[in-house]
Amino acid sequence: MGKKVTVVGAGFYGSTTAQRLAEYDVFDTVVITDIVEGKPAGLALDLNQSRAIEGFETKVVGVTTGPNGEGYEAIEGSDVVVITAGLPRKPGMSRMDLLETNAKIVRQVAENVAKYAPSAVVIVVSNPLDEMTALAQLATQFPKNRVLGQAGMLDTARFSNFVAEALNVPVASVRTLTLGSHGDTMVPVPSKSTVNGKPLRDAMPAEQIEELVVKTRNGGAEVVALLKTGSAYYAPSAAAARMAKAVAEDSGEVMPVCAWVDGEYGISGVYLGVEAEIGAEGVKRVVETDLDADERASLLEAAEAVRAKQGDISSM
Ligand code: NAI
Ligand code: 2OP
Repeated sequence: MGKKVTVVGAGFYGSTTAQRLAEYDVFDTVVITDIVEGKPAGLALDLNQSRAIEGFETKVVGVTTGPNGEGYEAIEGSDVVVITAGLPRKPGMSRMDLLETNAKIVRQVAENVAKYAPSAVVIVVSNPLDEMTALAQLATQFPKNRVLGQAGMLDTARFSNFVAEALNVPVASVRTLTLGSHGDTMVPVPSKSTVNGKPLRDAMPAEQIEELVVKTRNGGAEVVALLKTGSAYYAPSAAAARMAKAVAEDSGEVMPVCAWVDGEYGISGVYLGVEAEIGAEGVKRVVETDLDADERASLLEAAEAVRAKQGDISSM
């Protein structure tokens, strides 16, 4: 049977994700929803009119949903649901400043996803990411492997881009990794980063690597400060769309994602950025990689920071 993916939220993140998913041409249907009257239908119409030029057969369907779940029948049978609903940051705001507002939105969305698409894999992108992923799992009551969050793909892509630019090499020759939270306790991992297969640490001095680590941690804020309204969406949507594709194709690809950690790295009972094999059931397996002592310590610190906040969300 043909694959179906739903993107909840037709803002910048949601609309660019829907576009990427449609252009992959691996889904029969891409549903895009929002609470704004007409907007998802308008975007769907526009995207469908690009089919003859871009050459994809995927049909895009746009639906406005209501406060009591009206319209959610459209998501029935979705294999994957990407939740982008929620406010983005304004300049000077941290992702954590969005916690209460976005928790209400994500809870309401997740409850409807559980009702209308009970077999779906849920990919959360709304911020603060690690907390919203935990909340979506609580609200859906889906198995923890079927709820994951997008952050590591994006943060890793930012790190790779900064390294490629600094060394003036093709981005394809750079491999990096970023784990931890999608926030202050993000953990870029230089020990696992390479340029043309050689250690990053042989390609640039430690101080320069540290500068790029800091730049990666601030990658989202730098874009917000320039845009002034709204946050990044091209790289974020590329990251979420790749995850949805890996689920649809049951690819088993190893990706840095926000996943439920249960014993790996000596950490348990928390949603955290780690590498995982992604497939039809969501997270097939968390992949533990060797880390330097300081990177491992930073990951433990991230886990405790996220755990402290995730405790608050059950009441939201
Ligand atoms: P946006 O403001 O352009 O779009 C948000 C959309 O959500 C709006 O169209 C709004 O009407 C809709 N919405 C609000 N309540 C809803 C509900 N109950 N049901 C359905 N739709 C609803 O914001 P943008 O740029 O699309 O960002 C969306 C979220 O993604 C933000 O929370 C942002 O912080 C987050 N984000 C996360 C990243 C990550 O790496 N995880 C990266 C970039 C953004
Ligand atoms: C980003 O990293 C704001 O989380 C968003 O771009």
